[in-house]
Amino acid sequence: MQTLSTIKALRQTLATHRHQGDKIALVPTMGNLHSGHTALVELARRHADIVVATIFVNPLQFGAGEDLDAYPRTLAEDQSKLEAAGCHLLFTPSNALLYPNGLEAHTRVIVPEVSQGLCGASRPGHFEGVATVVTMLFNLVQPDIACFGEKDYQQLAVIRKMTADFHLPIDIIGAPTVRNDDGLALSSRNGYLDDAQRAKAPALYRTLCRARDALENGMRSNDVLHEALENLVAAHFKPDYLELRRADDLGPVTDTTQNAMLLAAAHLGTTRLIDNIPVLLPKN
Ligand code: PAF
Repeated sequence: MQTLSTIKALRQTLATHRHQGDKIALVPTMGNLHSGHTALVELARRHADIVVATIFVNPLQFGAGEDLDAYPRTLAEDQSKLEAAGCHLLFTPSNALLYPNGLEAHTRVIVPEVSQGLCGASRPGHFEGVATVVTMLFNLVQPDIACFGEKDYQQLAVIRKMTADFHLPIDIIGAPTVRNDDGLALSSRNGYLDDAQRAKAPALYRTLCRARDALENGMRSNDVLHEALENLVAAHFKPDYLELRRADDLGPVTDTTQNAMLLAAAHLGTTRLIDNIPVLLPKN
């Protein structure tokens, strides 16, 4: 696996592959990789000849008081994991390379509607930062496909909408959330949990599973969501949101909605965890 950190080297290397007719896949990451990320690389390999991963802790998607400085930087370990997963090329740009005139002066991409509510409500500007950096990475790599995890379900919806709105010829592939044996979704932020919090953390997914079962059995969503929130509080979480939305565009569920998503964010101590689960609502 080659690691490149300049735009010129990236473009030259990719031009050679494109000239050979290679299909190119992109897996954007912020590093501190776990099996969820390596599963994305393996998925990308099945769809393309060349897999390009990027590691960039994007300052534009972190709000004031969030964990930008604390976010773990583990490049050497990440390189070994990517190589073992079959990644061909790693791009590791610096802040100065992607934002040469600073963050404030940089052109931004805003994806309306789907960026609002859920994580967009508690993390203002977050999805603007994500959409902006992903647009830059799409332009730099010009991949045929790009893979993102479904754990960040709203992010995936934002990227799908942005790709469609800009008519980008890129297939966006969502990959199922990878979980620990106890159900906790893999996340770089799980590393912030102390032992006691780590033991409590699987209650988030358990709560979502129980609520999904109740909804699929036709119980009223208001009652189910209310009880699920109480369960989270009893499990020592401070819930941020727990909402049932349409699966395709995250719009509000109506009487005719069948494919829905139950999405949650909750704090355990100072760590904010997110998770989601698909729900097949019964026909009315
Ligand atoms: O999901 C992430 O790790 C990031 O939000 C992404 C998509 C790499 C953009 O910085």
